[in-house]
Amino acid sequence: MRIIDLHTGELGARIAAAANCSLLPLEQRRFPDGERYLRLREDPRGEHVWIVADLMPPDETLMGVLLLAATLREQGAAQVGLVAPYLPYMRQDMAFHRGECISARHMAALLGARVDALVTVDAHLHRIGSLDEVFDIPARNLSAASLLADAVGADTARPLLVGPDAESAQWVSAAAERIGCPWTVLEKVRSGDRSVRVSGTFRPEWKSLEPVLLDDVLSTGSTLVEACSLLKAQGMRAPRVAVVHAIFAGDTEQRLRAAGVAGILSCDSLPHPSNRVGLAELISSALREGVTAAG
Ligand code: R5P
Repeated sequence: MRIIDLHTGELGARIAAAANCSLLPLEQRRFPDGERYLRLREDPRGEHVWIVADLMPPDETLMGVLLLAATLREQGAAQVGLVAPYLPYMRQDMAFHRGECISARHMAALLGARVDALVTVDAHLHRIGSLDEVFDIPARNLSAASLLADAVGADTARPLLVGPDAESAQWVSAAAERIGCPWTVLEKVRSGDRSVRVSGTFRPEWKSLEPVLLDDVLSTGSTLVEACSLLKAQGMRAPRVAVVHAIFAGDTEQRLRAAGVAGILSCDSLPHPSNRVGLAELISSALREGVTAAG
């Protein structure tokens, strides 16, 4: 098995080290017009190669995956898989208005035509129940809930885990069970990219607990800023934030701090200063086990 890293920073190397295999060297640069130049610096013939890719921003990076996968196949790799710790385009999972592109399906079809298998972490599965509803290649969706829970448990004495919306119940309940603490989920209604309303009621006996807002994706921060306001309005303590995928679009971090967030921690699926939870072991175990079916 070989790992080839498509600009993840260090994650590709950490996964290779944890999987006890070597990185396949790749030369990459941009032509002056912005097009991508890729060159394999070792022969991949007969190898099972996993591309580890940071797919943010998605449009710029997905082209790199498509070109690299085709190059690996053309040069004789026996299998080309994709490790996309953050899988973009999963949130538009239905047409809310006539004529809309269901990007989750089309992104899955594009990748499925180019790679033999996929590994990701906490893909946004809401109206799509599992990856095999959209991918026709073996695809594994790993969960970082236990790792996040352990990190929360390590620095929060009496946590209350709070999920900002109904779909967060899946990872919030798993994390709470792991560290043995109470949990709740709020109700969210989204009316625009940055326009979200969150509602819910906190029990009086939770006022002495340390709330931790747990979510899969932190993008504009609108969801968690609203959840913060709700906690504050009900006299709860200032929350911490724990997320798997730290996108932090634009001024998100400042908005969260202004809303009174007491601390932020995230997994290293996307490089960000809040990264505290490493995913290399989780991902390398899945690669060693082999990916033959959706899960
Ligand atoms: C969507 O339902 C996700 O689970 C997140 O809650 C959402 O993507 C967060 O987005 P934002 O930070 O832009 O509110």
